Amino acid sequence: MNILVTGCNGQLGTEIGKIAASDETHQWWFTDVDTLDICDEKALKQYFNDHQIEVCINCAAYTAVDNAEDNPLLAEKINAGAPALLASICRDNKALLVHVSTDYVFNGQGDCPYREDDEAHPVSVYGKTKLDGENRIRECGCNHIIFRTAWLYSATGKNFVKTMLSLADTKDSINVISDQQGTPTWAYDLAEIIVHLINRNGLKPIHETFHFTNDGITTWYDFAKASIEIAGKNCRVNPITTEQYPTKAHRPAYSVLDKSKIKAYTNRSIPFWRDSLIKCIDELQRKAQL
Ligand SMILES: NC(=O)c1ccc[n+]([C@@H]2O[C@H](COP(=O)([O-])OP(=O)(O)OC[C@H]3O[C@@H](n4cnc5c(N)ncnc54)[C@H](OP(=O)(O)O)[C@@H]3O)[C@@H](O)[C@H]2O)c1
Repeated sequence: MNILVTGCNGQLGTEIGKIAASDETHQWWFTDVDTLDICDEKALKQYFNDHQIEVCINCAAYTAVDNAEDNPLLAEKINAGAPALLASICRDNKALLVHVSTDYVFNGQGDCPYREDDEAHPVSVYGKTKLDGENRIRECGCNHIIFRTAWLYSATGKNFVKTMLSLADTKDSINVISDQQGTPTWAYDLAEIIVHLINRNGLKPIHETFHFTNDGITTWYDFAKASIEIAGKNCRVNPITTEQYPTKAHRPAYSVLDKSKIKAYTNRSIPFWRDSLIKCIDELQRKAQL
């Protein structure tokens, strides 16, 4: 199949690129905003036509959660308008759209893991625009798979793990929020399940939403402590409350996604968050030695 990956230089796009590098079954096309802006309808149509795209994995997004509060129109354009465009082009080309959304579509006031059919109530501009993007894909009716994920990190780009490790290099102690619960996701694990599902489904009709993160539950505080400990760095981590660390965007307190559906659908287990964190930090340390 001809597979287009948008936003290919981001965390998820980069990990899909690694899997594609050793895949000989598909023709992969990688683009980012400088080569294919997902808000540009004419360019998208042209690209689908020129490359006979059969699957589009949309890794492009406006992911700056706090900045989105000040830039709601731009966030809406990239996170909702562009997925709607992609959906209609996929429908016209009978292509499959694989789209990625977020745990931030939920308000986090629950106390048991959120299922795919639980009602969404975003509490930030980012979460609202991502939910709009999901809904516009569903309304369009194209073949689609939507993955909701959370706390994404990898050895590339900007993310929580890399920030904690670089702070640990310069500070004796850091303060990290301990009253928000969720589950980290190594972008490679998400990339792997996306490619698995594409291979399994091919171009058959599908209209599904899945939750996917790593397994287990933690807090930002324990996630930071684990990152620093695994990397062998020396830095004390102090727990603080959300109130003590105000941010522009409100974040859900309980942000755990229920993954029973994807586990049953694929008959696969999901790596525990700490095991994947060890692999990512190993990759980071090997990169640093180059
Ligand atoms: N990061 C998280 O913690 C997290 C959590 C839950 C869900 N998600 C979702 O997971 C998906 C992947 O996230 P990620 O962390 O891999 O994102 P990322 O690292 O921020 O990558 C997004 C990529 O999209 C590009 N992009 C932005 N606007 C574009 C446009 N108009 N056209 C084409 N490309 C554009 C960005 O380019 P520039 O860098 O040049 O802007 C960047 O390369 C997103 O849908 C995100 O909402 C992420």
